[in-house]
Formats: sequence, C-alpha cells, structure tokens
Amino acid sequence: MAQANPKPGLRPANPQFSSGPCAKRPGWTLEALSGAFLGRSHRAKEPKARIEEVITLSKSVLGMPEGWRLGIVPASDTGAVEMALWSMLGPRGVDVLVWESFSGEWATDITTQLKLPDVRQIKAPYGELPDLSQVDGKRDLVFVWNGTTSGVRLPNADFIPDDREGLAICDATSAAFAMDLPWDKLDVVTWSWQKVLGGEAAHGMLALSPRAVERLESFDSGRPLPKIFRLTKGGKLIEGIFKGDTINTPSLLCVEDAIDGLRWAESVGGLKGLIARSEGNLAAISRWIDGGAGYGFLASRPEIRSCTSICLLVTAPWFKALPEGDQATAAKKIAALLEKEGVALDAASYRDAPPGLRLWGGATVETANIEALLPWLDWALAEVAAGY
Ligand SMILES: Cc1ncc(COP(=O)(O)O)c(C=O)c1O
Repeated sequence: MAQANPKPGLRPANPQFSSGPCAKRPGWTLEALSGAFLGRSHRAKEPKARIEEVITLSKSVLGMPEGWRLGIVPASDTGAVEMALWSMLGPRGVDVLVWESFSGEWATDITTQLKLPDVRQIKAPYGELPDLSQVDGKRDLVFVWNGTTSGVRLPNADFIPDDREGLAICDATSAAFAMDLPWDKLDVVTWSWQKVLGGEAAHGMLALSPRAVERLESFDSGRPLPKIFRLTKGGKLIEGIFKGDTINTPSLLCVEDAIDGLRWAESVGGLKGLIARSEGNLAAISRWIDGGAGYGFLASRPEIRSCTSICLLVTAPWFKALPEGDQATAAKKIAALLEKEGVALDAASYRDAPPGLRLWGGATVETANIEALLPWLDWALAEVAAGY
C-alpha cells in the first residue's frame, strides 16, 4: 500500500514566487496608486516631477555615483540593453559572457543582427560561470550580473580591469536592488521596474557612466536607428532623456507604482535592507537543502548562487534515474501541483533551463512565505514520485 503523504498544515500567505513580473511589496494594494496623474500629459509640470522622482529615488537607493545619468526608456530591460548595444558597440572588439538564456540572447544580437566582426563568446553551461580570466580590458564587455534563468550571479567584478579601455555593459535587471553593484567597474547598467521592487512591466532603466556618454558622443556607428533607440542628436547626448523627458509616453500609473516601490525600499533600510531581505530568502532555502531535501541548487558553488532567481534541481535518486525528457515532465508536474494547491505560482524552471524549479527570492518576497512553501516542495516531490 502506498504510504500516506499528508499535506503540510501551513500555506504561504502569498504564493507569488514568479521571476518577473515579481511579487508586489508586502502590503501593496491598488490604493498605493491613488496619487497617479491619470489623464494628464507626462510633459506637464507635476507628472514630469513624478517621473524625475523615479530617477532621483532610484539613484539614491542604489547609491549611483555623481556624474552618472539615469533615464527611463521604452521596452523594459530589453529596450535599455538594446539601446546600449546598438548605439555603442562597434569601435572595439566585444567579449560577451554567456552562461544562460538572456546572456545568450545578447550574444545572438551582437553576432547575427549587429553582425560585428570581432566578437568572442566566453561561455559556460547552466549552473556555472564562464572563465572570467579571459576578459580583455581592451575590448567592450557585455554581460548579465545575475543569470535569471540559471540562478548564477557574479560574486564580484574583479575580472574587469580598473584601467579598462572598453566599456562594461551590464544587464542588471535581476540584480539591481538585490545585490551590490560596483559602479566603478561598470559603464552601462540596465534594469526594469517589474523585477526586484515588484513594479509594473514595460519600462526600462538605462544608467550611463561618463565613459559611456563619451562613447556615445564620439562614435557614430552609421547604423540607422529608430527614434525609440536614439540617445544622441547631432553627435550630442539627448540630456532630456535623463531628466525625465522620456523619448515617448510612459504610463503615469506605472510611474506612481515605481515610486511606491522605491519608497518602500527606503522604508526597509534602502539597498542594505533590500539585500538583507533577499539574502535571508536564499539562506532559508540553503538551510532546507542542507537538511537533506530532495532538491539541490542548479548553481554549483555557493559564492555564485543568486539570491533573487533561486534555481533548484531535483536530486532525489528516482528522479535522476529518469530519462531526460521524463525529468522535464516530472519537474513540470511538481510545479503544476504547487500551483494547483495555490502555494507557489510560476515556480517552474525557465523553458530553456535544466528541469527543476525557480523561486524568486527578491526583497518583496517575505522569508516567512518561503519557509512556509518549503514543506510543500517536499510534499509535491513525494506526490510525483509515487507516480513513477
Ligand atoms: C537577465 C535578464 N535580461 C533581460 C530580461 C528581459 O527583461 P524585460 O522582459 O523586462 O525586457 C530578463 C527578464 O527576465 C532578464 O532576467
């Protein structure tokens, strides 16, 4: 007779563990948006002041150095990265660090769309980081800080030379507001509102160091660029973009929500508080895994494990004995069970990643909810095991 597999007694108060759009901050309700300037022009004084507030609050929470520019751009993080790639790459060879899906997509863009002749892809499989010692400071560098689809993050930027000649272009969308970013090692940093602070989708943030601006003003790629991508006019930076004069129309509802997220970030202790909350979530999962769960981390080494996109493999022997295709099916069954029970939504691993689960551990997720979820992961694993 099959052994009984009782359901855990406690459920997470909030089952939202999606890696984007991510959970809203604790206590969020639509009331948070009641001050939004709906039906107004985004160029009018008060709405524009709100847009500027997103920029100034983001800079201050992140501790962005003086001299950096920060703008709100269309098309989310993808838009921000594409603007940088298409406007800045060309004068030097390019190194691209590729260790999961999104970094792979930037490499594809650079090689097959921009068709740059001198590109090195420095690669690693899911769960690992590439050989960072290969990075050459004479070349431009394109990389993600946190691989959202593999749960692998950079531990530091020591591999970027202080006296680099190339630009360091960093897609930091699942790292900003959750990890320390060494601004002196970076020239372009991008993220979107829908990630760590739980904002709404479609708006991107583009941060430029003085060296990035210098590149924009000294290099003309000759490429036709649509208006939505243009950062310069007549060879000069369009400064307005970085003072709240957005290229096109943003959603003032989303702007209000972004401010709500940033004020909440301040209320939990700013960047330090956000990082502590996120690291606390990773620590809760680590303790559970160390305690002998039938799961392990996809990221092989603790120092490269993400505290936001926490990617898990199933390590139970029965699962590992399954053929690869059946492993994918079994992992999907676990995620589907969690969803059916209403304890974890959107917790399946990314479609191109090794089969497993992915739990978001950014600051808007309460550690108590992660802790309440973990027994359910054990339960779902046992439930699926019984079918094999
Ligand atoms: C590392 C990384 N880059 C880019 C993207 C694309 O972001 P968006 O859909 O906000 O443009 C994501 C989304 O998850 C991501 O995690």
